[in-house]
Amino acid sequence: MNSKNKKQIYKQDGRKYIDTEYVPQDPKHREKEITQISKQIIEFIINRVSGSFLIYGNSGTGKTMSFKVAMSVAQAYLSKNDPDRKDHKMIFVTAKGTDITPLMTEICRSLDVKAPSRGISFKDYINLINEKIQKTYVHICIDEFDNLLSRTREKAEDLIYYFTRTERLSLTIITNRINLAKEIQDARVFSSLNTLNSINFRDYDPAQCYDILKERTNMTFNPNFIYDNVLQTLSKHIAIEGGDIRKGLSVLGLCAKYAEESNILTITPEIMTDIIEKYDILKDGEKPEKTINFRKADSGSDIFTPFNKSMQHTGF
Ligand SMILES: Nc1ncnc2c1ncn2[C@@H]1O[C@H](COP(=O)(O)OP(=O)(O)OP(=O)(O)O)[C@@H](O)[C@H]1O
Ligand SMILES: [Mg+2]
Repeated sequence: MNSKNKKQIYKQDGRKYIDTEYVPQDPKHREKEITQISKQIIEFIINRVSGSFLIYGNSGTGKTMSFKVAMSVAQAYLSKNDPDRKDHKMIFVTAKGTDITPLMTEICRSLDVKAPSRGISFKDYINLINEKIQKTYVHICIDEFDNLLSRTREKAEDLIYYFTRTERLSLTIITNRINLAKEIQDARVFSSLNTLNSINFRDYDPAQCYDILKERTNMTFNPNFIYDNVLQTLSKHIAIEGGDIRKGLSVLGLCAKYAEESNILTITPEIMTDIIEKYDILKDGEKPEKTINFRKADSGSDIFTPFNKSMQHTGF
């Protein structure tokens, strides 16, 4: 692969826009959701009430992204309209791959509360947080909450109970378990979770997937790398599978990797179909860019492992 080709596929600084961690400034098709979330955060903070807000929807439908954008919208509104009242804090933590203790330690760290990272009970953490928030108001968002519920149900339920009943504190829970509320076994906890105060991130339809992926493609790649009909094939597939934009971005990243390694400048419909198929056989948790290798065979011809057979008709 020569560096000239790399330049021709990607726009200057384009790579960052295909990264799934990139947060778009003004995401399409989630305007209503972002407005609703930011209004909710502002309401909690201005009225200084305790309570909860539930965000649910399938994977890759923009929940984390929308909350992050809503948090900056709320912050901008509060700084402009309430400049003298800086006594609030918004905290965003994720429960992915973590247990209750590291999560509580992280929440404490974000609040500048000195807390040991082990050896104290959940209730002790709550007490430490309580002391700190006597002088302030805190909104905490816990992303990927279902992980916590699977790992340590009782403690996750305790967390909901205390975080929704502590004065000067409110909680947003983000989950992709649509029925999270039904899974809660403790009736006290169930009643503290205001399930009516929730927002469902509906799956994106094919046209929405196309708009979103088109925008990211335009920001990332030079024109002619992926033509509209090829992007439409990807968008339809993504929509059928539940609208996971993260997967769409990963497939686009794999297209670029394939093009770089094969020295081509345009993704044909056949290549796109093969890359989608290849992606679909990955197991949960496998990182596509690590697992899928586009390597040269000993003979010197390009092969697309292990889909080398299916790639033959593409002519590469
Ligand atoms: N409307 C949109 N506009 C632009 N990018 C989007 C949009 N929706 C989702 N994305 C992108 O798709 C990727 C996945 O979004 P996000 O991480 O917010 O999904 P999620 O709903 O939190 O998924 P999960 O449940 O797996 O955590 C991100 O890179 C995000 O920027
Ligand atoms: Mg998320």
